[in-house]
Amino acid sequence: MTTHTTPAAQATAFPEGFLWGASTSAYQVEGAWDADGKGPSVIDVRPSYPEGTTDYKVAADHYHRYAEDVELFGQIGLRAYRFSIAWTRIIPDGDGPVNAEGVAFYHRLIDALLAAGIEPIVTMYHFDLPAALDAQGGWANRRTVDAFVRFAELLFAEYGSKVTYWLTINEQNMMILHGDTLGTTTLSGDEAKRDLYQQNHHMFLAQAKAMLACHEQLPKAKIGPAPNIAFVYPASSKPEDILAADEWQAIRNWLYTDLAVHGRYNSLAWAYLGRKGWQPEIAEGDLEILAAAQPDFIAFNYYATQTVGAPSGDNGDLLVRGADQQMVRGEVGLYRAINNPNLPKNQFGWEIDPVGFRTTMRHLWDRYRLPLIITENGLGAFDEVAEDGKIHDEYRIDYLRRHIEQIGLAIGDGVDVFGYCPWSAIDLISTHQGVRKRYGFIFVDRDEFDLKGLARVRKESSFWYSDVIASNGSNLS
Ligand code: BG6
Repeated sequence: MTTHTTPAAQATAFPEGFLWGASTSAYQVEGAWDADGKGPSVIDVRPSYPEGTTDYKVAADHYHRYAEDVELFGQIGLRAYRFSIAWTRIIPDGDGPVNAEGVAFYHRLIDALLAAGIEPIVTMYHFDLPAALDAQGGWANRRTVDAFVRFAELLFAEYGSKVTYWLTINEQNMMILHGDTLGTTTLSGDEAKRDLYQQNHHMFLAQAKAMLACHEQLPKAKIGPAPNIAFVYPASSKPEDILAADEWQAIRNWLYTDLAVHGRYNSLAWAYLGRKGWQPEIAEGDLEILAAAQPDFIAFNYYATQTVGAPSGDNGDLLVRGADQQMVRGEVGLYRAINNPNLPKNQFGWEIDPVGFRTTMRHLWDRYRLPLIITENGLGAFDEVAEDGKIHDEYRIDYLRRHIEQIGLAIGDGVDVFGYCPWSAIDLISTHQGVRKRYGFIFVDRDEFDLKGLARVRKESSFWYSDVIASNGSNLS
């Protein structure tokens, strides 16, 4: 592979107060899926779990061990912790009575974080829709919008005096494009797609109403969306490849950010939905609500870029090597999935592209001029405990280092980045590969079929990250 230098490769110091953090989500880390009055979510009731993992619902048992975990976060030196609140812990059936024990848990967690000097960053919804709402149609039913807004208002009232940073919906775009965490459906074909984009519209509405409520209830708070943004490269300079990249870029990325920021549908994505017959019904007043809501920042998750070419119009447009959320699938007749020959891949087939991270930040900034925070980025791997009892995850250090360098370069480009929260603070359940695929700075001693003692061990990457944080990003060695 030829190496090239990049233009204006001049890193600028990270700003004072930069939020060096790490992320998790409730269902992937907490366990205690039915403890203390919690209701079931769509995740809890699904018939099978990644790789047949048993005790999946125990996860890292963070619900019971949060105090020990926060102490370890403090030892690492985290300045921020991004986590999600399980809707069904607060309101077990999604829109009925409030569960005081669930409310109390997040007070304890937030208080422990604040006592350790760690800024809480709260995601309001990370894939775990209440099962009771799903049974009533989930996001296809407009009542779910009202239920979400009530839940959001409750969170603002409960935790608003302690929490400044709020994220609305995690990876709405991945839920729509990959669908497996959205809820149940009996529909198929075009009917299913139309229903999906109706759900998408309702989520946009829920997000807009939550942003409006946040600003009204908490004038000092800051709120933003949390999509997964992967810059899309054209396979070549062929004009048809550029057009194909524009199409996928609009459908995958800009549809979600344009709506959140400008409150209007991206026109390429809207035209695409029109050609397909998948445009959602828009009720009177919806567009005004979408236009009135404004985020304070854009949070985004970044793992890899995607590359596409002009379509051939046959099945060759589709990717053959599987297609999870970080792989481009292709769409017959619209864009062809391309394996980027310039990028290495991780062991799960995800392309590794630190320079693409800088490109993604530059484009988000250029398009919206809103401060950015990265709420996920990281390397999943089958970490092992070595004979010396340590977890030598140098491969993760290398990945994180190369991505953090690009944040410095993006800041040098003039991009306003105010935080970096890689995935994940502690080992948790991966959405596709269960327990064995680990992302954490902290190892959790369990495997797929044996809970062992769930003991926590700091990985080598966590010691390296401590130095990065202590030097405010100037020491990446
Ligand atoms: C993001 C999700 O898509 O990617 C996380 O927000 C997820 O919930 C992360 O865990 C990594 O994906 P995976 O499939 O490796 O767990």
